[in-house]
Amino acid sequence: MSDSSESQRMENIVSLCKRRGFIFQSSEIYGGLNGAWDYGPLGVELKRNLKNYWWRVTVHERDDVVGMDGSILTHPAVLKASGHVEGFSDPMVDCRLTGKRFRADQISQQSGTVFTYEFARDAAPSDRALQALAQLAETDAEPKFKKTTITSSDALDLAKRIVERRKLSVSLPKGDPESIELFFLDLGVALGQDPRSQWEAEFVSGYSVPNRRISGDAFRVLVRNGESESKADKTARAFYQKRGVQLPVVSLQSKQPVENTQEFNSENGAELTLPRPFNLMFKTNVGAMEDESSIAYLRPETAQSIFVQFKNILEVSRKKLPFGIAQIGKAFRNEINPRNFTFRSREFEQMELEYFCRPEQGMGLLEYWKEERLKFYKQIGIRRDKLHVLTVPDDERAFYSKGTYDIEYDFPFGRQELEGVAYRTDYDLSQHQKASGKSLEYFDEETKQRFIPHVVEPSAGVDRTALALICEAYSEDQAPNEKGKMETRIVLRFHPRMAPIKCGIFPLLKNNSQLVAKAKEIADLLRPHMFVFYDESGAIGRRYRRQDEIGTPFGVTVDFETLGEKDAALRDTVTLRERDSMKQERVAVKDLLEILTSRIR
Ligand code: GAP
Repeated sequence: MSDSSESQRMENIVSLCKRRGFIFQSSEIYGGLNGAWDYGPLGVELKRNLKNYWWRVTVHERDDVVGMDGSILTHPAVLKASGHVEGFSDPMVDCRLTGKRFRADQISQQSGTVFTYEFARDAAPSDRALQALAQLAETDAEPKFKKTTITSSDALDLAKRIVERRKLSVSLPKGDPESIELFFLDLGVALGQDPRSQWEAEFVSGYSVPNRRISGDAFRVLVRNGESESKADKTARAFYQKRGVQLPVVSLQSKQPVENTQEFNSENGAELTLPRPFNLMFKTNVGAMEDESSIAYLRPETAQSIFVQFKNILEVSRKKLPFGIAQIGKAFRNEINPRNFTFRSREFEQMELEYFCRPEQGMGLLEYWKEERLKFYKQIGIRRDKLHVLTVPDDERAFYSKGTYDIEYDFPFGRQELEGVAYRTDYDLSQHQKASGKSLEYFDEETKQRFIPHVVEPSAGVDRTALALICEAYSEDQAPNEKGKMETRIVLRFHPRMAPIKCGIFPLLKNNSQLVAKAKEIADLLRPHMFVFYDESGAIGRRYRRQDEIGTPFGVTVDFETLGEKDAALRDTVTLRERDSMKQERVAVKDLLEILTSRIR
């Protein structure tokens, strides 16, 4: 699919998410909080189904994993020991024109011509020249400007009147700073030739370069291949204006061709600052004192509380290696550029497993967990051909990791990471043992050895996976409407396991009390076992469409056959409709619960 149809697809997905109550911008009525999202009635169900299924396969269906739920507020010592306080940063650059911040590694490569400016001088008169101009006007008995101070925006108008009144041979400016400067300089020369008071000389010296505002900041602009070169001066002028030069006459030093540079803002061509580290952790204060002693952090990953509680959990669970501790919870990162809808947020949830093992088991378990995690994605309805396993190269892996895989998904905005599976060796436990002075060793009763366990960590994002589920499920097909005419149908083809609502229950007619009562009875029968939605409004076809659009896999319709009015043999049977095939089957109400639970589990 082309980039533009993929970006259109993403727009449709974002709009559906809002329209049907999956995801809203946080604090939307106040203009929104960048990087934070609120999940609506359907979004929260989708996320819960995802988290519950992860917990089921990672904790409940295994006897070697236990769970925990750690606090979000984290002691600074934990994050000092883990290396986050020192090193959890992204390289950041700022646009020198707008001040907008970017992650240095996300700047796209560009080719074109670099224009280098040395400085800019102001074509607007200095205060001294303005005052002289005002005095000249008064000497000339200029009616409109009978005042001793004028603003620089009055100056041009006033100067033009002086030219007119004294009939000076000076050409009027076009509007750009260069021609305005030339105009004022010519005016000075003309006034010098015909001085009528001391103010003529005062204006000439007041308009001289040393008395005007100058910015000595050097600045560079990239004009990309195919763009107009006039963009360079325009951008440079905007830069110097921000530094207080009102009408900048820019001084170009050089023009150089350049290939694949990442030193310029792709939005405007302005130069970026040099990269510097930006720590992504949110800092806060705990208690009434706001000083160094009360600093705490909002955790940037759930993993650290697992490492810090390793010994307690080992003791209470009496597990033997290899075993794991699982956690699902919020994490916070002050991302420089939150983007791609919920993909990169500042507040998000993680599903992390720390699977502790003997050193010699690490590499094997890395492979094992990669395969387990790929199986998981298949079980929640993500096609294998949309997933990619990236072996993170040696120079990009954390220094303590002996192997890391990124599991990536083909989002409409490109191939991006869903989950990391990393063999973290004994780094974390060793760091915490060293910093806390408390032993985090494991005692092997069989070999009588004491050692710090190694760990393999599959770490997935809830929000990213929920977004992948929505992207994977979104489809448009052609289906007949109530009148049999084909029209576009939006369907979220969620795996029934993940679908927010499992079944829609519809009485064929809203104004038939028997149909309504029977449909409500069926809804009550199913409710303790699954999330169902009762809907009696509108034509049945339209009710089906509304459920298709939010991914409800099944629809049950109560009709006159259910009441036994047409054929006694069909009494207490309903129509069961399947979302994707739109096929309908007749099933007995007594079998409904079993049929549905077997398909949604
Ligand atoms: N404990 C290891 C760890 O946190 P990570 O690769 O930084 O590793 C793991 O994060 C997962 O958390 C990512 O693969 C992603 O799914 C999710 N994640 C990380 N940063 C995120 C963000 N800013 N927004 C949404 N999800 C994010």
